Formats: sequence, structure tokens, C-alpha cells
Amino acid sequence: MEEYLNKNIKEIINQFPEVENILNGYNIGCAPCSIGSCLLKDIIEIHNLSPEEEQELMTTIAKIIYPSREVTIPRIKRKHEARPKEIGYSPPMKKLVNEHVLIKRLVALIPEVIDKLDVASEEGRQVIIDGVDFIRSYADKYHHTKEEEILLKYFDENLDIIKTIYEDHETGRSHVRAVLEALDDRDKEAVSKHLNAYRELLTEHIKKEDEILYPWMDRNLSITQIGELFSKFNGRDEEFGDTSKRYEEFINKLEEKFKLKEALK
Ligand SMILES: [Fe+2]
Ligand SMILES: [Fe+2]
Repeated sequence: MEEYLNKNIKEIINQFPEVENILNGYNIGCAPCSIGSCLLKDIIEIHNLSPEEEQELMTTIAKIIYPSREVTIPRIKRKHEARPKEIGYSPPMKKLVNEHVLIKRLVALIPEVIDKLDVASEEGRQVIIDGVDFIRSYADKYHHTKEEEILLKYFDENLDIIKTIYEDHETGRSHVRAVLEALDDRDKEAVSKHLNAYRELLTEHIKKEDEILYPWMDRNLSITQIGELFSKFNGRDEEFGDTSKRYEEFINKLEEKFKLKEALK
């Protein structure tokens, strides 16, 4: 079993596809994860499984890997013991979770924006340009760089979970570039395709951060580091002035606009 604990999870799933369903039962979605190359032993700590859940999960997986053998399941060594799942976020993480709420409100409007998409008129194109401005200025420059330039620096950037975050941000940026290019070409289909891809990516990305990454980070940061992080985030907020307020107003207006259109249908 030791051999498999040090194997990456995607390889294990390829060899034993049933493992994917078992992990899903513990809310561990390795298959849709963009990298998914965490080692089996890391999954326990990253996903904050209790010792009982760990034992149960490992026994089930061992039965699939070695169907005709009794296997002793080693207890996986952790840096930090599991914490109660209902534990709240630390103040700096809570700040990031709140920023996700505004990003999620934009993401939720994308299907409506696609439905009413008009790349031929100036007014129609402006809707996309304004949406992209929110994504670039608020979601990316304000929120993602807070993660990349401050938060992620507290962790080993070679860890798969950290690499996944960087990779998702880059993929998001490339979809946004593609949206603008397609808009220039008046290519309605490509604008929709990349907006949709951005929506799917960000939905998964935010879920991953809210439910897995941030709680795992909170478990691994010291109280001093958490305090430091909070003051660095506050410093960054000051640099950005009224950005947060302005973009919240933008989302309020966009929601009004699309609700109005919905009512006039
Ligand atoms: Fe992120
Ligand atoms: Fe985020």
C-alpha cells in the first residue's frame, strides 16, 4: 500500500477507475481538477479528512487495488491534525471569500449575457467590454494578484495544489484575451464559447479555493502569519482605493439591466 500512497492520484484513477467514485463520495473531485497530480497520501491532509474517514477511505481503496489480499493500512503522517469541518475562515481568508461573492455574481450573469449577445452593435459590444473590464480589473488585478503576490508566497510553489491555482488564473486570462479577439472579429460563437469556458473555469476554481485551498491554508498558517496576511491584504485594499465599491456598483447595475431585459422578454 505504501507504494500507492506515494503515487499521483490521476495515475491511480487511470489504473483503477472505481477510485474516482470513491473519492467523489468524500467530496474529493480529483478527476475534474486541472492538474490532479497530488499524491494519494497528500489528499488526506489537503481535504481535511478525519482519522476515521482516512481509515475508511484507505481501506476501501486498498480493497480495489488488492482485491484478494488483506492489507495493513498505514496511518498517514500529517503536519497538522484534522480540524472540525465547520471551522470558520480566518479574517484574511474571509476577505477573499467575500471577494469571490462579487465574482460569482458576474459569473452567474454570463448565461444571460450570452443569450442576449449582440456583437454587431456598439452597445452590444460595450456590454462585453465592460464585463471584461470587471474581470481584468477586479477579479484579476485586485483579487487574483492578492492571491499570487501575497497569499501563495507563504507556501511552496512546487506543491500541486498551488500550481493548480496559478494554472487556473492563466487559463482564465487566456479565455479573456480570446473573448476580446473574437469580439474584434465580430465572431459571436467564439465570444460565447470563451465566456462559457471562463464561467465553468471560475465556478470550479472558486469552489476549490473556498472549500479546499483556503481551509487547508488556514490549518497550515501560524497565528502570526495570519495577522501579517490580514494587514498585507488591508494595505493592498488601501492601494486600490474605491475599486471594490465601484465594481460592486457595476455588478448591481448589470444585475438590474439583465433583470429588466428578462422582464421585458
Ligand atoms: Fe484564485
Ligand atoms: Fe480566489
